[in-house]
Amino acid sequence: MRLLVGQDADDAGKLAAGVVLGAVRSNPALVLGLATGSSPLPLYAALAASGADFSGISGFALDEYLDLPDGHPQSYAEVIRTEVTEPLGLDPARVHVPDPHGRDHAAHAAAYDAAIAAAGGVDVQILGVGSNGHIGFNEPGSAFGSRTRVVPLAERTRRDNARFFASPEEVPTQCLTQGIATILEARHLLLVAHGGHKAEAVHRALRGPVTEDFPASVIQRHPQVTVVLDGAAASLLA
Ligand code: F6R
Repeated sequence: MRLLVGQDADDAGKLAAGVVLGAVRSNPALVLGLATGSSPLPLYAALAASGADFSGISGFALDEYLDLPDGHPQSYAEVIRTEVTEPLGLDPARVHVPDPHGRDHAAHAAAYDAAIAAAGGVDVQILGVGSNGHIGFNEPGSAFGSRTRVVPLAERTRRDNARFFASPEEVPTQCLTQGIATILEARHLLLVAHGGHKAEAVHRALRGPVTEDFPASVIQRHPQVTVVLDGAAASLLA
């Protein structure tokens, strides 16, 4: 596991962007796994500022809320469009987000995993970590062998994400998420976190026991992981 620590969130974003840019330089048809939430925003901003050509890459989002109307600004389809696809100049036809609007979520989830495999698998998977240790929306107790599926959001996650919505009640209760086994199939995991509120989760993910009770700890089993933090998020690492 490689650990990079930036001076602040923007600096960490630039370091993480360096990892992605290096991968895109050696493979302009890179398959990039996309996280949403606040953690990867400095990374996406640094990628957009780089002026690099991302038109050949494909993207697969980690997750999507259920029960938001199509086009809701906090749906991850919209967040990916406004924070990633448009600023980086990705080809929208190659950017995939789990679709929560169909009738058969299980069939769609299986098709989503199959689409990742058909694209050759994810080369670099960007990950954030939830304060309860989730990756994607694999909440504590998720099986390490899990695949893409519908899951209920933990109450702590709904509280954490209430900041994105007008009221806490508006936060969806369920989502479609890539499974832990799906995530682990990526060739390179790039976990990003910033801020002192992430220090404990980062410490448990990197140094704690590997357990389904704290899903992010599974990254310790992956052969190629880069973790990029700011000083505050790294503050509990010895
Ligand atoms: C989002 C995702 C989540 C977030 C996590 C941290 O696609 O998969 O695991 O990465 O909830 O969220 P932020 O970055 O907002 O603290």
